Amino acid sequence: GYDISGLLNKTGHVTLDTGFVNTAACESAITYIDGDSGILRYRGYPIEQLARQSTFIEVSYLLIYGELPTQAELDAFTDRLRIHTLVHEEMRRFFDGFPRDAHPMAVLSSGVSALSTFYQDSLDPFDEEHVQASTIRLLAKVPTIAAYAYKKSIGMPPMYPDNSLEYVENFLRMTFGMPTTPYDVDPYIAKALDQLFVLHADHEQNCSTSTVRMVGSSHANLFASVSAGVNALFGPLHGGANSAVLQMLSRIAADGGDITSFVNRVKNRDDNVRLMGFGHRVYKHYDPRAAIVKETARQVIDRMPQPDHLLELAMQLEEIALADEYFVSRKLYPNVDFYTGLIYKAMGFPTPMFTVLFALGRLPGWIAQWREMIADPATKIGRPRQVYIGEQERDYRPIDQR
Ligand code: ACO
Repeated sequence: GYDISGLLNKTGHVTLDTGFVNTAACESAITYIDGDSGILRYRGYPIEQLARQSTFIEVSYLLIYGELPTQAELDAFTDRLRIHTLVHEEMRRFFDGFPRDAHPMAVLSSGVSALSTFYQDSLDPFDEEHVQASTIRLLAKVPTIAAYAYKKSIGMPPMYPDNSLEYVENFLRMTFGMPTTPYDVDPYIAKALDQLFVLHADHEQNCSTSTVRMVGSSHANLFASVSAGVNALFGPLHGGANSAVLQMLSRIAADGGDITSFVNRVKNRDDNVRLMGFGHRVYKHYDPRAAIVKETARQVIDRMPQPDHLLELAMQLEEIALADEYFVSRKLYPNVDFYTGLIYKAMGFPTPMFTVLFALGRLPGWIAQWREMIADPATKIGRPRQVYIGEQERDYRPIDQR
């Protein structure tokens, strides 16, 4: 019943594809996913090889610059990151204004956005030196801001970076260390967190990455675009799912551990409850990242003095769901978030920090995708069309006649 003539325009037919299920918004040479076979590759390298043999810094270099670095390139990149870990001292005053119970994702996105005000010499998207400077500044400073957000939430003073440490070790120390006491980073935990960051480093055109590209397509600077990505990741259907999984598991445990009745609630859609950490827009197969994370969860939790009974609960829940027709017919498998929250909890992170950890891991992917978009001459400002379903033309009536 609607006039659709406006949808047949000079550029062809306008299609309605809610959620972009079948519409590609760009060409990209960064990440390859075959969701039906459970394949994920960064720049051609299988995720399994990168997770087991590479490091987060090397993978960041690979995503951003396209090739694995030589030793000299890696050393130069690492050194540049080291000297940029401090944030501008005046940013502390800016942070001090936030309420103490602010969610650390809100603090993080504000902090990243504020980088545009403190580092005005690196905002031009078409100046190579500016882009390089903002790339390094983001990678180096976001862990400092993230750790600051955590310290703020627990009422503790911030820790300055210790640039003799590796990237992830430095972040762990800034998060869990105290200015008054020496802090020894557990190398096993640092390695496990590094691996989790590798697994999260890019995932082609997901919600937050598409947001980064969309904002950047207006030629907004890298800091502004990435802060928008942080906000997109905040939602429980995206990065927030890792905390939602833990809340779900804790609730099942608190209700007596009856997994079957919880699964029935999901199937009956009681209160629209979903099995968090399950399902994926692209993977209709076991998420290859989830397979690695499941293994890591077992190893990290086994090292803890107190085993976490929620891991057993998660494993039983997975087993029951994977044998259930509802999940099988919809091809719903655990995604990367199903086990990550359990690992973060075992490492000592409070639940609100889980999504921040996802953001730290996804950062090089956002940067790489923004840079690819800016460098691509085919890029146009992102501007989706719509199918209008509102009123047809009608006449204005003065207020006394309504
Ligand atoms: N629990 C129960 N049912 C589900 C779930 C779930 N987790 N996920 C999808 N379904 C069902 C839907 O109800 C729908 O069923 P129907 O066809 O009978 O109506 C069908 O499976 C398809 O689901 P959609 O919502 O259309 O799938 P979509 O691709 O839009 O959503 C998403 C993908 C958002 C990830 C979804 O699976 C979900 O909400 N999962 C839980 C949240 C989560 O874990 N998010 C993390 C994603 S991964 C990441 O961001 C790193």
